[in-house]
Amino acid sequence: MHADQPDVVVGARRNSPLVIGLGEGENFLGSDVAAFVEYTRHAMEIGQDQLVTIRPDSVEVVDFAGQPVTPTTFEVDWDASAAEKGGWSSFMAKEISEEPEAVAKTIIGRVHDGLVDLPEVTALGPEVLSSIDRVLIIACGTAAYAGLVGKYAIEQWSRIPVDVELAHEFRYREPVLSPNTLVVSISQSGETMDTLMAVKYAREKGARTLSICNTQGATIPRESDAVVYTHAGPEVAVASTKAFVAQITAIYLLGLQLGQVRGTLSPERARGLVAELQAVPDKLSDVLAVGERIKELAHWMADTRSVLFLGRHVGYPVALEGALKLKELAYIHAEGFAAGELKHGPIALIEPGQVVFVIVPSPRDPNSLHAKVVSNIQEIRARGARVIAIAEEGDVAVLPHADEVIRIPLASPFFEPLLAVVPLHIFGMELAAAKGLDVDQPRNLAKSVTVE
Ligand code: G6P
Repeated sequence: MHADQPDVVVGARRNSPLVIGLGEGENFLGSDVAAFVEYTRHAMEIGQDQLVTIRPDSVEVVDFAGQPVTPTTFEVDWDASAAEKGGWSSFMAKEISEEPEAVAKTIIGRVHDGLVDLPEVTALGPEVLSSIDRVLIIACGTAAYAGLVGKYAIEQWSRIPVDVELAHEFRYREPVLSPNTLVVSISQSGETMDTLMAVKYAREKGARTLSICNTQGATIPRESDAVVYTHAGPEVAVASTKAFVAQITAIYLLGLQLGQVRGTLSPERARGLVAELQAVPDKLSDVLAVGERIKELAHWMADTRSVLFLGRHVGYPVALEGALKLKELAYIHAEGFAAGELKHGPIALIEPGQVVFVIVPSPRDPNSLHAKVVSNIQEIRARGARVIAIAEEGDVAVLPHADEVIRIPLASPFFEPLLAVVPLHIFGMELAAAKGLDVDQPRNLAKSVTVE
C-alpha cells in the first residue's frame, strides 16, 4: 500500500498462499478464503508468480513480466456465519460442536444406492484405481493422524498396502515411487508448505496424487491430479478438531471406493460399512453430551503436569491426537502410545497419580483386543495410575479397573475413532480453559504453516 494511493492494494504471490475475495464495491486479499468469507463468497485464484492490484471496484492480475492473465473465479460453498463465533465461548467450542455436521456433509452426495461414488477419484481414470499397488499418505500434525486411521481402513477394505508419512520426512529421503503409487495428501488448509512440496515431489516422480482438503481453491488441491474435498466448513481455531473427523470420513470413502472397484469388498459388505459411516453423525451428537462431565474432569486436573494416552489399532492414532491436543492447547507434557508398546518402555513412566487416558476397543472386536487393553489397564492401575477409560456403552468389564469411564455409543471397530476422539478434543479445550489459556490461538502455533 502507499499513503498517496489509499484505494490501492498490491499483492504478489510466490510460494505462499494468496486468494482474492470479490465483493461489491470492495475486494479482499487473504491467505485463504476463511479470511473474507464473512464478506463475500465469490473468490479468485492467484497463481504462482503473479501480481494482483485491487481497488474497491477492480481487480487486475498480471504475471511477473507484467503480462495480463485471466484468473479463475469460484464460489465458496461456506456460508458467511460459518466463520463467526456465534454465541460460543471460542471457535474451538463451536467447531467441536460441528463435528457431527462435518462428517455428515463430507458424506452427502457421495453415496448412491448404498455404495460410495466419488467421481473425483474415478476421474483419475478407472484403470488407475485398479492398477495402483501402493497408497502413500502424506500430511502433518492432526491430518497425519487422520491418515494413520485411514491406513488401517484402506488396507483392510482394499488390500492395498498403505504407508503414512510426515510430509517433511518424506521429501528428504528419496522415496521410492512409481506410476502405480497413489500419493494421498491430507490437509485442512491445503497450504501447509511441507505437504505441498511433498505433493509436488511425488508428482514430478510420476506418482498419482490425490488431495483430501477442506479449503476450496487452496494450493495443494491445485497441484494434485484429483481432490476430494472435506466439507467441515471453515476451521478458525488453530488446533484442528472438526477437520480431523471430516478427514477420516473422506479417507474412509476413498477406502470403500477402492474396495468396491477392486472387488475386495462385496457390495453387501460395502453397503453395511457405508450405512455405519452414515450413522456416525447421530452418534457423534450423542457423544457431545459428555461435555459437562469432561469439563469437571478437566477442572479437577488443571494442575496436572503430564498425561498419557493409550490406544490400539485405530485407537492408537486417536491416542496420538489426544496427546497432541493437550500439548497444543494446554501446554502440558502428553504422549500417545500404542497400548501393546506399554511394556517396552512407557510403563516405566507410571507412578502414583499419573493420569492415563485409555481408548478401549469394543468387547465385540473380532481381534479380541479388548481383553488385551483391559489387561494393560490392570497393569498400570496396579502401579498407581489414575485411569480414564473411553469405552463403549455396556462395556462392564472395564468398570472395576478404571477411575472414570467416558461412554461412547456402540460402533464397529473402524467407526470408534470418530467417536472416541471427541471427548479428547473437549478435554484438551476444557483443560486449556481451566488454565485460563486462549484455546483458539495457542502460543507459538499457526493455523497453516506456510513456511518450511
Ligand atoms: C498446523 C496446525 C494443526 C494442523 C497442521 C496441519 O500445525 O496447528 O492443527 O493439524 O498444521 O495443517 P493442515 O492445514 O495441513 O491440515
